Amino acid sequence: MAAALPPGSTVAVIGAGTMGAGIAQIAALCGHRVQLHDARLGAGDAAKKAIAAALANLVAKGRLAQADADAAVGRIATVVTLADSCVAQLVIEAIVEDLAAKRELFASLENVVAPDCILASNTSSFSITALAGGGRHPERFAGMHFFNPAPLMPLVEIVSGLATSPATLDTLFATTLAWGKTPVRASSTPGFIVNRCARPFYTEGLRLLAERAADPATLDAVVREAGGFRMGPFELIDLIGLDVNLAVTASIWGAYFHDPRYAPSVLQQERVTAGFLGRKTGRGFYDYAAGAAKPEPRTEARRPAPAQVSVHGDPGIASPLVERIAAAGVTVQRERTDSRFPGGAIHVAGGSGGAWLALTDGRTATARVAATGVRELVLFDLALDYATAARLAVARADTCGDPAYASAVGALQAAGIAVSALDDVAGLAVLRIVAMLANEAADAVVQGVAEPAAIDLAMQKGVGYPRGPLAWADALGAAMVRDAVANLAAHYGADRYRLSPLLARRAATGGALGG
Ligand code: NAI
Repeated sequence: MAAALPPGSTVAVIGAGTMGAGIAQIAALCGHRVQLHDARLGAGDAAKKAIAAALANLVAKGRLAQADADAAVGRIATVVTLADSCVAQLVIEAIVEDLAAKRELFASLENVVAPDCILASNTSSFSITALAGGGRHPERFAGMHFFNPAPLMPLVEIVSGLATSPATLDTLFATTLAWGKTPVRASSTPGFIVNRCARPFYTEGLRLLAERAADPATLDAVVREAGGFRMGPFELIDLIGLDVNLAVTASIWGAYFHDPRYAPSVLQQERVTAGFLGRKTGRGFYDYAAGAAKPEPRTEARRPAPAQVSVHGDPGIASPLVERIAAAGVTVQRERTDSRFPGGAIHVAGGSGGAWLALTDGRTATARVAATGVRELVLFDLALDYATAARLAVARADTCGDPAYASAVGALQAAGIAVSALDDVAGLAVLRIVAMLANEAADAVVQGVAEPAAIDLAMQKGVGYPRGPLAWADALGAAMVRDAVANLAAHYGADRYRLSPLLARRAATGGALGG
């Protein structure tokens, strides 16, 4: 394992915008001399001032000593020409996302830096192989993909192009670690790890909206309060910017030769065309105008708690839900598995004949009526943890009558759960998103983008997912995720939902997907 670049060595940062300034701040705080260059006159000095202000803020909060802040700022020099970067051991490029501009910059850099200087790009979307290909020494070229805001976000993807040497990657990995960051290794493929593996979070959310499963506020609340994600897809896209998020999706879709897996959403395109770009323009999926009320998620009105429920078979991951219903004073009768619900189900007394409550498996409730003959069927969504979930989405079969539906809702409400009704869409919201995240991550493993553990770590540190998608699939059982994806594929008949070969294999053998 190569050593990290020592403190005191010089790091040149080219491009002093949002990312460049953040990266310069990190390197200077870690003891490097930093040379900051920007093509725009005054941009380097403005960035240095912003860094000094950010560090002063940390000092004021007691998180940094004044002397350390002064020393870090003192180590940053703004340089006017590229030739001034010649003493750097590492150059990190963070200029505009334009392939020709980046290639031109690296060609010029090769003429000024030492032959062993590592060249790294912070590009979000370009192939590292393509960027390195323009140079004479592609072996010392790699991606170093920070997340915004760089000083706060722990993850850095260390990306190898086809010709990158192991020594270059090892040095970058060790240096990033020494900077207190969480590096993960990825190969140069569209979107690297995070931007690619996160696509289903947005695109499945958008497809649910396009099908009018529910409004954005309801879908966001379900994904947050049942899925355990910090934000739902729509509030997150509003924060990222609809245009920026669409550009990433479109870039990955294009890079994979229009694989339907990554196809962007017409709904999102329409909003971008209208200038509804999210928080930054005051309107996206939500309205941020002064005085605009934040829409509340749709929540079912309170229904009476049932006196009794019967649990048929082993409810598996949903067992804590049954315990919560019991803790509310509802009598819980244990019954043998009902052959119509091999994965377990809850029968709620009430109405004429009562209702059946079962966990979604990727089919619609109405499709399961056809398969089971049970007309009074209500499906509930996946939760990260049924012991603590504050909300659950449900879907009611077209054949389910009002009294039966009311008794099913009442049973969940008795457990202290807010119930949000979605239209009877396949896989509801959380299962659909989580299954497709796991499927995407499994395909990234198959294609050698990264190791399973790196993918799980990247999704937790880069986008704050409550669990790595592969470890999550393991917790559910690969067979459950495989069935969900296969049922989505059967329902939509779309190549978008094709099953990852790794998920198919692990489901067949019961092996683990995660690292
Ligand atoms: P930015 O627009 O804030 O800053 C880019 C800076 O580069 C500007 O100050 C500009 O004057 C300068 N510049 C442009 N061409 C140049 C050249 N030929 N030589 C020297 N300086 C030049 O952009 P931002 O957001 O900092 O992005 C920079 C890079 O980082 C892009 O490749 C982007 O894809 C990537 N990135 C951005 C993230 C984000 O959330 N903003 C996250 C991760 C990566």
